[in-house]
Amino acid sequence: MSIDLHDAVAVVTGAGSGIGRATAHAFARRGTRVVVTDRDAERAQAVAGELAGLPGPGGGSVAATCDVTDADDLRAVRDLALDRFGRVDLVMNNVGILAVGPVEDIPLEAWQHVIDVNLLSVVRSNLVFLPLLLEQGSGHVVNTASTAGLLPYGFDRLPYTATKHAVVGLSEALALYLRPRGIGVSCLCPAGVATNIVEQITRYGEPAPPQGPAFPVVSAESVGELVADSVSEDRFLILTAQQAAIELRDLGADVDHYLTRLIKDTP
Ligand SMILES: NC(=O)c1ccc[n+]([C@@H]2O[C@H](COP(=O)([O-])OP(=O)(O)OC[C@H]3O[C@@H](n4cnc5c(N)ncnc54)[C@H](O)[C@@H]3O)[C@@H](O)[C@H]2O)c1
Repeated sequence: MSIDLHDAVAVVTGAGSGIGRATAHAFARRGTRVVVTDRDAERAQAVAGELAGLPGPGGGSVAATCDVTDADDLRAVRDLALDRFGRVDLVMNNVGILAVGPVEDIPLEAWQHVIDVNLLSVVRSNLVFLPLLLEQGSGHVVNTASTAGLLPYGFDRLPYTATKHAVVGLSEALALYLRPRGIGVSCLCPAGVATNIVEQITRYGEPAPPQGPAFPVVSAESVGELVADSVSEDRFLILTAQQAAIELRDLGADVDHYLTRLIKDTP
């Protein structure tokens, strides 16, 4: 069921920076033609320009301006991919933003915006791209969540934590539906990655002290490689810090004990 990245066609959202950019590079190096999409047109163009220097099909990648809160933008990306390349094999739903602060200081409107960007963007993308993949009976979807979507530590960024948990749950159930239909699903749950993510943070109230496991920060380039390899091998859960797997096992063994330990360990 795994897809051959050579000569495949990928759409990556939020590909103008960080993990999306690095994954677009990793796909293109393997011969995938990438539709590099971002809300920021200049960034999308710049990354497509970087890929244009590559030998092979990846050098034919193109840019598109796409805000994932706009279904028309996503439909335009689908139409561009079909016009240029005739198909879509791989969709990476990668955009994420944060509203950070004490929960009582984060307004409802901020919650609604984070839900729109982090969760409903995946729903919109599914509505646009899944009919194509289902008709083909092949393809792969990568949803970028976070370790904050697996583990209870992001209490200072609750809309992020809640939406990333939702993306994990959505992805797991989607795998049950899509895999028997020939379509792979992966859920990327990075820990710290060196990117421009601070630009996507809106802050409310006083900063809260950190709580929970601290994970090593890795490069975006290493995450891009990991994602491309995981898609080739049709792996569902993609972790950038193996410590997260240990935390997840401890959480699953006894949730009450895990929460009590986290609270006790907080200075
Ligand atoms: N960097 C980390 O430590 C980390 C950890 C866990 C999860 N993640 C997740 O990885 C994903 C990528 O983040 P990153 O760290 O590469 O961030 P980044 O800021 O480097 O890149 C995000 C890109 O998304 C674009 N973007 C923002 N809003 C958009 C919108 N509405 N529509 C389209 N594009 C939009 C930005 O212009 C930017 O180019 C996010 O979902 C994030 O939650 C990141």
